[in-house]
Amino acid sequence: MKKLIVKGGRTLKGTVTVSSSKNSILPLLAASLLSNGEVTLEALPAIRDVSTMIELLRRFGAKITNEKYSTVKIDPTTAMFVEAPYEIIKTMRASFIVLGPLLAKMGRARVSMPGGCAIGNRPIDLHLEGLKKLGACIDIEEGYILAKASRLRGNKISLNFPSVGATENLMMAASMATGETVIENAAREPEIVDLADFLRKMGADIHGDGSDTLHIIGVDELKPVVFRPIPDRIEAATYIIAGAMAGDTVEVKNIVPDHLEIVLSKLRTAGVQMEVFDNRCIVKGCKRFNAVDFKSTPYPGFPTDLQAQMMILLCLAEGQSVVREEIFENRFMHVAELKRMGADIEIKNRKAVIRGVKKLKGAPVMVSDLRAGAALLLAALVAEGQTVLNRIYHLERGYDNFVDKFIGLGADLKLSNEESLKK
Ligand code: UD1
Repeated sequence: MKKLIVKGGRTLKGTVTVSSSKNSILPLLAASLLSNGEVTLEALPAIRDVSTMIELLRRFGAKITNEKYSTVKIDPTTAMFVEAPYEIIKTMRASFIVLGPLLAKMGRARVSMPGGCAIGNRPIDLHLEGLKKLGACIDIEEGYILAKASRLRGNKISLNFPSVGATENLMMAASMATGETVIENAAREPEIVDLADFLRKMGADIHGDGSDTLHIIGVDELKPVVFRPIPDRIEAATYIIAGAMAGDTVEVKNIVPDHLEIVLSKLRTAGVQMEVFDNRCIVKGCKRFNAVDFKSTPYPGFPTDLQAQMMILLCLAEGQSVVREEIFENRFMHVAELKRMGADIEIKNRKAVIRGVKKLKGAPVMVSDLRAGAALLLAALVAEGQTVLNRIYHLERGYDNFVDKFIGLGADLKLSNEESLKK
């Protein structure tokens, strides 16, 4: 199994370009099933989650071309299978968002239930209740959701939590339903707006994206589009934090500063110096930070996907910071590993109390999920000595070309498999 060996203490300097948003592309790939012709998606990152979703579309019978390059063409008109098998859903629970488009386009779907994951229980009740409101008949059989509807019908749906995935599933399904759907307490993330832009370009009638109420008037057909997703705000912030902790001067290109408002504001409070332009940011390295309290909440709040990375910076801050995780019940898996690197963190339920230390020290660590992996990599870059990150495949799920990007900034890291480590 691949490991990442990081020698800490190198000063980062130079420019890094952020890739397209993973969390945008996955629903866009699913939404391409709704088209009546070939959809083109540009600037795709080389990450495992994207290949997994493409593989799933291929299993439905969609014709996929050019997938090796950053442009992929999806012709869903040849798709005739409606089963999303357990072996794919278990490796990437986000693939569950094919349920809405399959149902809207094919009238039926058989999609494996995702089950829990490393960061929490992650139920799907909001997806299923919403689809029932749109007239779908839903059964559960042998771990699979069986959904049927000859034609979905618009309705009012009120989510009891602004779930990103449920909003996406329902928005895609409602785009081809009859009549109007109103989704209240919808998620407001930039990726929702990107999906709405994509669907509108296909001919969908959607209003209110970016607010908590979506209005969708169903149409009979959606047409092919050529589309480029938004930059990945989580990747962007990960490099900004790296620049702040280990940088001399690091330029992070291809960002949308509006998508990062609360994150940039918390970083400034922590003492990070940045110059922010229209689509890039220059961050200066800093030796010591101020303690900052924050909690992860739905957008426009602080993203749960950056909670772990921000915590690394606070490990080296002056004084005590308190971090509350409000989205997922088990998203402090990185903490035990960080303690092995010398961090002083105490967990009380959904709260982490971090007392700043002068330095972190390299150690072998285990990556439990994608963002925990990013956080441990940041810790390794500033730690004294060598850190070996095990189960690095989690990072490959969502960070495009991260080894070369960090090496390009001057970091000392290399991928290795077990055999070569023994030599
Ligand atoms: C998406 C993102 C993920 C991010 C998360 C929160 C993608 C591919 N993934 O995941 O990176 O961390 O948003 O910003 O875009 N919930 C329910 N019932 C449901 C659905 C969700 O109770 O039917 C709960 C979840 O357990 C969780 C919370 O709602 O506690 C947020 O989940 P949700 O917004 O749905 O996250 P995902 O769409 O899975």
